[in-house]
Amino acid sequence: MKNILVTGGAGFIGSHVVRRLVSNYPEYHIVNLDVLTYAGNLANLRDIENRSNYTFVRADITDANAMQELFAKYQFEGVIHLAAESHVDRSISNPMEFIMTNIVGTVVLLNAARECWKGNMEGKRFYHVSTDEVYGSLGETGYFTEETRYDPHSPYSSSKASSDHLVRAYHDTYGLPIVISNCSNNYGSFQFPEKLIPLAINNIRQGKNIPVYGKGENIRDWLFVEDHAVAIDVIYHYGKNGDTYNVGGHNEWKNIDLIHLLCKIMDRKLDRPEGTSVGLITYVKDRAGHDLRYAIDSGKLQRELGWKPSLQFEEGLEKTVDWYLANQKWMDEVTSGDYKNYYERQYQLR
Ligand code: NAD
Ligand code: DAU
Repeated sequence: MKNILVTGGAGFIGSHVVRRLVSNYPEYHIVNLDVLTYAGNLANLRDIENRSNYTFVRADITDANAMQELFAKYQFEGVIHLAAESHVDRSISNPMEFIMTNIVGTVVLLNAARECWKGNMEGKRFYHVSTDEVYGSLGETGYFTEETRYDPHSPYSSSKASSDHLVRAYHDTYGLPIVISNCSNNYGSFQFPEKLIPLAINNIRQGKNIPVYGKGENIRDWLFVEDHAVAIDVIYHYGKNGDTYNVGGHNEWKNIDLIHLLCKIMDRKLDRPEGTSVGLITYVKDRAGHDLRYAIDSGKLQRELGWKPSLQFEEGLEKTVDWYLANQKWMDEVTSGDYKNYYERQYQLR
């Protein structure tokens, strides 16, 4: 059995990646390493937690000794690195956590991989999962390609950009076999409700205001999370050593248009008269340094590795709403505890 390390596997995207690998590759033993921050939740993996080719390890990627011991114990063939602080608003109020986990934590993992693989890099792979936010913000036209110059604006995107550079540096300097992908906004099941779509679904269900930053004119390019997990599988197995792939759905939405669509779906699902939920839209103070538009050109991934998104957005959003409405217990659990304090701090003064 090949031992594969997935970091951040108890989070939103990581849990979909772990589920896919554990289910589709019985010849792999998947070790899910996660420290379980507020965003990590083992309930995201209940359906596969007892599989014989799955192990969960609770540890912090910034802990160099723990990482070295883990690599020595399992002699990983591959690493799929998703562990990160991932929410832009939190990076604005607390940048240091982002520097520690996203930059220092990535270097700790790179060192552990380098030490473990020294003398024999054959068949090994360090896959760093990154974001399109490293490219900064687009105007009204154009797309991010793999050649777009890095121009991050938030502490989150700067920390991800920094980690991308370090991963490439370990390839160029030490010959570490690496691959990187930069993906656009994901949506789907198990996403923590600090992010726009699950936050809006939860608020609409409870008849609470839907906070829209600024004028709601910012544009994001949305991809169904299970399509991202397929892309990660494909890139891990077939991506070229040292290369970068952009992942996205060619699916741009102005925030306010997306919220209108969501309101319409929610009114129908909750048997409310059409137009009820739109009344909850509340414009609030804009995010500092708010990037205007993201749009990914995923042509390289489509041409070279044959990946393409499987779902239209309306269908994916409908599935997503169905999942959150059917999994109210999950939502209640993640929004009990500290989420209330976060929500008050984040939205009270806006
Ligand atoms: P998430 O916040 O839902 O999950 C992150 C996971 O990492 C959590 O389980 C958390 O417990 C774990 N973690 C955090 N700090 C850790 C540490 N120090 N040690 C070990 N584990 C730690 O994030 P997500 O949305 O699933 O994003 C996963 C990755 O994909 C991130 O690297 C993010 O930058 C990238 N990404 C996300 C999106 C998106 O739309 N969500 C898009 C493109 C790229
Ligand atoms: O582009 C990829 C990135 O997408 C990932 O790297 C990040 O990890 C992920 O969090 C996401 O970043 P965004 O900042 O784009 O996602 P978020 O859901 O926070 O916000 C989406 C848009 O909605 C953005 O323009 C800000 C706006 N927004 C967000 C929240 C939480 C609101 O208008 N109101 C809100 O309450």
